[in-house]
Amino acid sequence: MSGNSFGKIFKITTWGESHGSAIGVVIDGCPAGLQITEKEIQKELDRRKPGQSKLTTERKEADKVEILSGVFEGKTTGTPISLIVRNKNQRSKDYEKIKNLYRPGHADFTYEAKYGLRDYRGGGRASARETIGRVAACSIAKKLIPKVKITAKLIEPSLKEIEAIKKQNDSIGGIIECTIKNAPAGLGSPVFDKLDARLAQAMLSIPGVKGFEVGSGFKSAHMMGSVNNDEFISKKGKIVTVTNNAGGILGGISNGMDIVFRVAFKPTSSITKKQNTVDSKGKNKTIEVKGRHDPCIALRAVPIVEAMAALVLVDEYLIQKVLSCKS
Ligand SMILES: Cc1cc2nc3c(=O)[nH]c(=O)nc-3n(C[C@H](O)[C@H](O)[C@H](O)COP(=O)(O)O)c2cc1C
Repeated sequence: MSGNSFGKIFKITTWGESHGSAIGVVIDGCPAGLQITEKEIQKELDRRKPGQSKLTTERKEADKVEILSGVFEGKTTGTPISLIVRNKNQRSKDYEKIKNLYRPGHADFTYEAKYGLRDYRGGGRASARETIGRVAACSIAKKLIPKVKITAKLIEPSLKEIEAIKKQNDSIGGIIECTIKNAPAGLGSPVFDKLDARLAQAMLSIPGVKGFEVGSGFKSAHMMGSVNNDEFISKKGKIVTVTNNAGGILGGISNGMDIVFRVAFKPTSSITKKQNTVDSKGKNKTIEVKGRHDPCIALRAVPIVEAMAALVLVDEYLIQKVLSCKS
């Protein structure tokens, strides 16, 4: 009900706020006996952390992970795995002056409407730091499906465009495309838990995501059936399709082709340009959001898209294992 957990068998619960003392994840349902080290988890987290390029925020976040439970002598024990990253380099004073103002494009107004109060420092729970838990969990999830290769990349805008926008003190949106190779046919469930529906939920849960499409997606609305249909052929004893407009999913179930989807990110909300807003008393005000922000959040979101895809895939893989069990 509270919306902090994701997954049915491989279930994660993320916790923590951007400027709280720490942030983390509890993973329940990970099979026992899987080898995992803090170093492997750290490797995945390092791909996510800011400050690695001049086009991402200048915030320096070490994001050092610690395993608190569920791993003994380098192997998962089957009990809940708890991972923690302590928050450092937080500059809460950046938020002090604007604590009573609702930042345009942020969750300030809606969190207050829901809970009656909010942690105003760095966006609190709505901050992208929450995704640290997801990326950490994914480093474990990926080890359960070693043959499945998940690769996301920013397809637009170009780095040159981002650089130009940054110079104007503005921000820009972006599109990430993700391809999942070697997923077997048969993953996903009919009706409400279709594989594409679960991927859509996973992607739309990432902060700043406003759109999701699979295969030919929105373009398919303008295509003819004769063009959009993927014809089947038998190739070296394997049933494949000639084209892949379905993006590897038919009837909510993977068909063995590459699973291909795209995720649209909005432009970063925090910009230094003056904007109109209101304060918590409903008075009209203006705001200039200071602080260190990403000019294009999509640039930093590539490992987060991969992480959410891995979490869906591993869960569906485990569900399929249960369903295909013959006693
Ligand atoms: C990797 C990543 C980094 C982000 N960094 C920022 C940022 O520096 N400034 C900002 O305004 N929003 C940033 N966001 C987006 C906000 O967290 C998000 O827009 C906000 O919480 C409102 O949620 P919504 O856009 O999903 O409605 C980031 C998102 C991601 C995925």
